[in-house]
Parts: sequence; structure tokens; C-alpha cells
Amino acid sequence: MERTFIILKPNAVRRGLIGEILKRFEQRGIKIVGLKFLWMTQEQCEKLYEPHKGKPFYEELVNFMMSGPVVAMVVEAPRVIEMVRHIVGATDPLKAEAGTIRGEFALTVTKNLIHASDSVENAEREMSIFFSPEDLIEYKLDIQDDI
Ligand code: RTP
Ligand code: MG
Repeated sequence: MERTFIILKPNAVRRGLIGEILKRFEQRGIKIVGLKFLWMTQEQCEKLYEPHKGKPFYEELVNFMMSGPVVAMVVEAPRVIEMVRHIVGATDPLKAEAGTIRGEFALTVTKNLIHASDSVENAEREMSIFFSPEDLIEYKLDIQDDI
């Protein structure tokens, strides 16, 4: 079993896409173990995007991510890091396949609606910025034996 970290970016919230996006994970059988609605602090945002510091898009990205509230979540499933990135689609919406979240709803790279961790190490690092261990809930999904 694996866990990953996801953020629905401020434009996903403003566009009323929270339900549409959560539905896609739920219907796939992916279990939500942590869920928060929050407005990122500068400190949280800088920690999250620490690996991108110095890149040309960094300032624009940080400003955008702090432009409104976001939904932060931790989800669990077998091979979930790769699975979620597949559901999300390529970073550039132009290259994101039809049927993916970015492929259906996003237009530009910065405002690509959603963030998802790309490795076990980054997932651990990123979720720890927003969730403490007691925020993550252990339970059994009704559907768990059928997926
Ligand atoms: P994410 O981390 O958000 O799930 O996206 P990703 O792995 O597909 O993309 P990554 O390379 O980690 O970049 C993080 C976020 O930075 C913005 N970005 N802008 N203008 C640009 O060239 C550019 N490149 C990246 C995107 O919003 C991307 O999600
Ligand atoms: Mg990334």
C-alpha cells in the first residue's frame, strides 16, 4: 500500500471543481486518508516548492498557489503515486491526454489545477508540511475487497 499527497490549486476551488476532481479519485477506488481546506502560508508554500526554487516559473507559481484557498489531501492505494499522476495528466495541459483532469479542465501550465507528488520521498516530505500523523485516518473502505 502506498500514499501520496495532492493539492487542488486555488483555481480549482474558484472554478467549483472540487467535487468533480474528488469524484475521479473516489470512483477509481482510491482511499482518502487526510483532507484539509486551507489557505497556504508563505512558509508552507516555500517548503512545498523548495525543489523548484530558482527556476524561472517559481515566483509566479508561489504567488498563484497563495492566491486563494486550496484543498490538500493524502490518499492511499496500491501504486497510488503513479496512478494519481496518470489521472492528473501531463504538467502542460497541452500535452495532457484527453480524459485526464488537466486534459479536460486545464489550459495553462501554472494554472494546471492540481498538484500530485512524484515519488515516495516527495510524497512523505510534502504531506508532512500540511498533515501531522494524527490527521491521517486509518479505516477500511467498503469497496476495498472489490478493487
Ligand atoms: P505538480 O508537481 O504540481 O504535480 O506538477 P508536475 O510534477 O507535473 O510539475 P513540476 O515540474 O513539479 O512543476 C510544479 C508546478 O510548477 C508549475 N510549472 N510551471 N511555466 C513553466 O514552465 C512551469 N513548469 C512547471 C506547474 O504549475 C507545475 O504543476
Ligand atoms: Mg512535481
